[in-house]
Amino acid sequence: MRTPLVCPHTDLMRYGIREIVDVVQQLQALNPRLEIMGENIGDPVAKGWAVPGFIQEILTDLIRSDSREVFAYTHSRGRVKTRKWVVEHARRFAPSTRLDYEQVVFVNGLGAGISVIYRMLAPGVRVLQPHPAYPTHISSERFHAGSESIGYRLDSSRRWQPDLDHLEYQVKQHPEVGGILLINPNNPTGAVYTEEVLEAVLHIAERYQLMVISDEVYFRMVYNQARYVQITELAGDRVPLLVMRGVSKDVPWPGARCGWLEFHNLDRDQEFQDYFEGIKKSVMLEVCSTSLPQTAVPLIYDHPEYERWLSQYCADLEANSNAIFTILHRTRGIRIQPIQGAFYMTVLFDEGVLNEHQSLPIADLKVADFIRRRAAVPQTPLDKRFAYYLLAATGICVVPATDFESPAPGFRITTLERNPDHRDRTYRRLAAAIVQYLASG
Ligand SMILES: Cc1ncc(COP(=O)(O)O)c(C=O)c1O
Repeated sequence: MRTPLVCPHTDLMRYGIREIVDVVQQLQALNPRLEIMGENIGDPVAKGWAVPGFIQEILTDLIRSDSREVFAYTHSRGRVKTRKWVVEHARRFAPSTRLDYEQVVFVNGLGAGISVIYRMLAPGVRVLQPHPAYPTHISSERFHAGSESIGYRLDSSRRWQPDLDHLEYQVKQHPEVGGILLINPNNPTGAVYTEEVLEAVLHIAERYQLMVISDEVYFRMVYNQARYVQITELAGDRVPLLVMRGVSKDVPWPGARCGWLEFHNLDRDQEFQDYFEGIKKSVMLEVCSTSLPQTAVPLIYDHPEYERWLSQYCADLEANSNAIFTILHRTRGIRIQPIQGAFYMTVLFDEGVLNEHQSLPIADLKVADFIRRRAAVPQTPLDKRFAYYLLAATGICVVPATDFESPAPGFRITTLERNPDHRDRTYRRLAAAIVQYLASG
């Protein structure tokens, strides 16, 4: 080639949730009988949750309809009728919102939304990330910036609420920070933020003239007595606010690749307005986002059966998460918190309990050799070593906490297992494997 083809900084694009899938495939090639318990990807459908019948009917009717609308392109920012519905939907939670449908942009899943919001930032501008956080945010932000993520700590001893002193400290230390990311309810911790915390974050944003990005893809999945506080209502017109929502988790339809961005308080700040104009241009180049889900969105969320289905879904998620917590929380060497939202739990190892000599017995010799070599790669974090051995020895696939930029080693599990016997067996096996691993070296 006459010139280098690869763009710089690709090493900053890391996505542990899917990277571990390559390891799974390699292990299965070596041992086709290895049964995998995928605790890595937050896909309720893949984990056996039924797609409600009324949703299937809505989609079938749309496909059969004479209008053919769902087979055509939409407006580049999304179907106007659905964007008007988004405004009305936002008003249900935040009656004071001044959102207009022209300030709503549909995207091909929030994955695509995450990519565009960082891509369109001015060079050098950073968005403060929660640590730990969903890796697509961290990776996209650091890839755009060309350097490692700047983060604020989530406090594991306080149910994973943001450490506000650290957040403000980081804002002061880094004048290049132009925004703060909130993920609420949180992936990977399952935390739901209190009103006091959200108010304090808004106060910091106001004081330092920052935009707030609020990823709310899990906002309907709240339980264990938690109350979801709508930041749109709390913020009023105080700060530039970008809210991200989608259908992947609460419909649940992750394969729809459908989400939307709401730009609140655009008239508050010319920079925010210019940023929004850039995002509009960028999504125009992508032509439009998926048509069928956009047409279905209002029909699904406003269907008379939706609320009943949702409350059962949340009740099941609550019961699952509490059963898993009960099994794991007495295990020596780890710390966990009960969760209140989404469907993830982050398990942290106690300080100093991990080392590079630990292992688990692996029956298949080829698999054992493969994992030993993989774990011995220099700079492999200690929690990744654990995840490798766990996978090869038990088939349980978790994501190391360091893949979420967690300052402390640990791992994330999902709380999505449908079968209670299988769930309890898997987590008892996990608890036993932790004890065995920690005692091994
Ligand atoms: C916090 C968060 N935001 C966004 C996404 C991506 O959602 P989508 O399926 O809409 O791309 C996920 C997926 O797990 C997520 O956890």
